[in-house]
Amino acid sequence: MSRISSFFDVTTLFDVTTRLAVTALLAGAAQPALAQPGITASLLDSYRAAAVKEDAGFRDFSAQRGEKFFHAKNGDMSCATCHTDNPKSAGKHAKTGKAIEALAPVANAQRLSDPAKVEKWFKRNCNDVLQRVCTAKEKGDFVTWLAAVK
Ligand code: HEC
Repeated sequence: MSRISSFFDVTTLFDVTTRLAVTALLAGAAQPALAQPGITASLLDSYRAAAVKEDAGFRDFSAQRGEKFFHAKNGDMSCATCHTDNPKSAGKHAKTGKAIEALAPVANAQRLSDPAKVEKWFKRNCNDVLQRVCTAKEKGDFVTWLAAVK
């Protein structure tokens, strides 16, 4: 009797484990990939195409310009106001005080892994800091810099 019940326990355990594994796989597929250079590259490709449309004289993105953009103040507000001067540090929302995780992919593998999220926050944050949307050139410069932070 005890043999049979332990047999059932093992089968049940196996069944549960398999289900958990399948669930994890499915959940993994629905989630954005983590810090994949390919995703950042295709994000930059789309900004590049848009930047050429905005300005036919556009040449290429510049990490240096991106870094400057991050620190540049408009009034008393900059990107660093919430994200701190160091993109590898966790920040804090200037108005709500809510914690913000580090922006640089080297410190936070979630960053730049979901183009829709990146766009959503560019929209909000550019409006907060610049009272306008960012240009494709500004976004491309910024992403180029952020992805290269070591
Ligand atoms: C008022 C506070 C605030 C300011 C100022 C701000 N941000 Fe953010 N930013 C946030 C918050 C909040 C999030 C979303 C929370 C999170 O993802 O941790 C975010 C997320 C982002 C993301 C998403 C990155 C990703 O892959 O998850 C990018 C890109 C970004 N900010 C860029 C900028 C840039 C560029 C500026 C300056 C133009 C800027 N932020 C200014 C608060 C701010």
